[in-house]
Amino acid sequence: MERTDSLAAPDPARLQASAELQQSIHAEIDASGGWISFARYMELALYAPGLGYYAAAPGVLGAWGGSSDFVTAPELGPLFAATLARQLAQVGRAEALPLLVEFGAGSGRLACDLLTALAALDWLPQTYAIVEVSAAMRARQQQAVATLAPELARRVQWWDALPERFDALVVGNEVLDAMPVQLLARDAHGWHERGVARSPDGALAWADGAAVVAPRSTMAQLPVGSVTETHGAAQAFIATLAERLGRGLALFVDYGFPAAEYDHPQRSGGTLRCHRAHRAHDDPLWQPGLSDITAHVDFSGVAHAARAGGLQLLGYTSQARFLLNCGLLDVLRDALLRLPGGVAAPSDRAGVQLAASVQKLVNENEMGELFKVIALGRGIAAPLAGFASGDRSAALD
Ligand SMILES: C[S@@+](CC[C@H](N)C(=O)[O-])C[C@H]1O[C@@H](n2cnc3c(N)ncnc32)[C@H](O)[C@@H]1O
Repeated sequence: MERTDSLAAPDPARLQASAELQQSIHAEIDASGGWISFARYMELALYAPGLGYYAAAPGVLGAWGGSSDFVTAPELGPLFAATLARQLAQVGRAEALPLLVEFGAGSGRLACDLLTALAALDWLPQTYAIVEVSAAMRARQQQAVATLAPELARRVQWWDALPERFDALVVGNEVLDAMPVQLLARDAHGWHERGVARSPDGALAWADGAAVVAPRSTMAQLPVGSVTETHGAAQAFIATLAERLGRGLALFVDYGFPAAEYDHPQRSGGTLRCHRAHRAHDDPLWQPGLSDITAHVDFSGVAHAARAGGLQLLGYTSQARFLLNCGLLDVLRDALLRLPGGVAAPSDRAGVQLAASVQKLVNENEMGELFKVIALGRGIAAPLAGFASGDRSAALD
């Protein structure tokens, strides 16, 4: 974790935008009697129109270097999407589902690479619908999709709201971790909701509010002095999806754990992290709007919200196991064979990049083990290749 004072200063326009955002957060704190929940603070810091991190800075995720702050699996290269496409095509074909919905599409890279890979597998959805909360990210996605072949680009639509009922394949990569979380702090008397107030000099400051009942029984494992998160927005999102998804399969990929691991005493500091310029820091109140703020996903809570809404838990495993089950190594071989030098020239720059992306996707010290894939669905009879071995669904009970 980096100290915030070791991070490079952003350009003056972004600093000015952060100062404006801070003013509006101050105003909301004052209007709310001097305190707002951390979930509300996080919502403003990430999504306040025109000023929040995702609302104002569409360059936030992308390849290393440039102006990006962090890299996600689809941004590492085309192999993540090409492998995920195999699972989607398997179920889309077997279940005759003509719609694919992506939540939180970021730069649009996953949408473009998925459509390209699905076309190569000879199964394309009639419609690829993107649901994206940030207008700036949506504009970036539209630019990316415009570079696709017209036959693919014409399938893509942006939805402003979810239909009341839809049958579909659903995907979301690193979207649950970007939803606002509540912060809870434990003292000798119990748990209190930690929120944001103003210090005597007017700056943003932490302030503990009302006593709350711990929503996860596993939180009893955490000692006095612990801070952790609860995931009201992510669970409400899954509840809405469960209500509206008719027949379909939803796959969410993200970093996180089952509740018992989430609340392991060694994780007593919680999982809240901020990212800027490919470095992590732990002060979400510093220069709001200029760093990503994220928390790990409580996959037990996701499974519970889904089941409560009538969805089935169809699988839960590590990203490494899911991708290998779906044939990541065959996908790599095919991609190497398509290079000008063929698989005999894996030391070519392009070959090395492909191999390096596989290493990052599956290595247990990189994304392979911390990232998980959860499959939720209704009315799906097709077996899911991605969970054929190493399914850990029982860990979410
Ligand atoms: C961490 S980025 C991940 C982007 C992309 N999926 C990727 O893997 O590169 C999170 C994305 O989710 C969007 N987002 C957050 N909450 C959302 C919600 N409730 N519905 C739709 N999009 C959301 C953000 O604006 C952003 O585009």
